[in-house]
Amino acid sequence: MTQKENHIPISATPTPRHVAIIMDGNGRWAKGQGEERLYGHRHGVDAVREVVRTAAEAGVEYLTIYAFSTENWGRPEEEVDGIMSLIAGAILSELDTLTGAGIRMNFIGDLASLPQTLQESIHKARTAEIPEGKLRMTLNVALNYSARWELTEATRQIGECVQRGDLNPEEITPELISAHLTTRGMPDPELLIRTSGEQRLSNFLLWQLSYTELYFTDTLWPEFDGAQFTRALEAYRQRERRFGRL
Ligand code: IPE
Ligand code: IPE
Ligand code: MG
Repeated sequence: MTQKENHIPISATPTPRHVAIIMDGNGRWAKGQGEERLYGHRHGVDAVREVVRTAAEAGVEYLTIYAFSTENWGRPEEEVDGIMSLIAGAILSELDTLTGAGIRMNFIGDLASLPQTLQESIHKARTAEIPEGKLRMTLNVALNYSARWELTEATRQIGECVQRGDLNPEEITPELISAHLTTRGMPDPELLIRTSGEQRLSNFLLWQLSYTELYFTDTLWPEFDGAQFTRALEAYRQRERRFGRL
């Protein structure tokens, strides 16, 4: 067996190093409560807090959450504005607790076109320092993210390297492509969770999810909690990962 084949585990490791989550169902949950959609998004933040804590305690090293897609701009302005200020506020209010717990926030997506106040919150979170040796988990927040945007950007960057004469087309490998994605340097997610009963990827991490185990639950995101996250990890442990082999 070559080096390369050797580092891919055949069966699921006890705890995934990287978990990705499509947090879906805030609007339907709010409707069920007789409330406006933003009420659901606000309760969604509470679910994020609990799941982040549970993931860090379980030893997950990277947690990537889909907070706003490039397609979500198509929602009514009032909802978009509400989501943007909710996220900006949550980043600031959670920052000290997260930093204290050794959780680093990282943001992936087309951040330059986000509202100024949100960009300022992102900047504060990015510059928060975690003491040497205390880093426990990286929380990737996907904001104005879509996989096609990411792959288009990566392709453009690689094209520019070729055009400058810094790269031969023969040197374009899967590893090189991975190194141009927003998740560069991180392992691919072993587990993807999507709440609310929808069974699709909605333009999330298309490259990185190539061999990821998918876990769908009918629970709406505001009702997803630590116990349900733990259940998803247990389901993952029962999976047999073959990677095309026997
Ligand atoms: C997920 O919940 C949050 C975002 C996409 C921002 P939704 O807002 O999509 O809720 P549903 O799917 O309409 O119930
Ligand atoms: C995916 O949920 C995006 C986020 C969770 C941020 P959506 O609710 O936007 O996806 P669709 O429209 O059901 O595919
Ligand atoms: Mg939805």
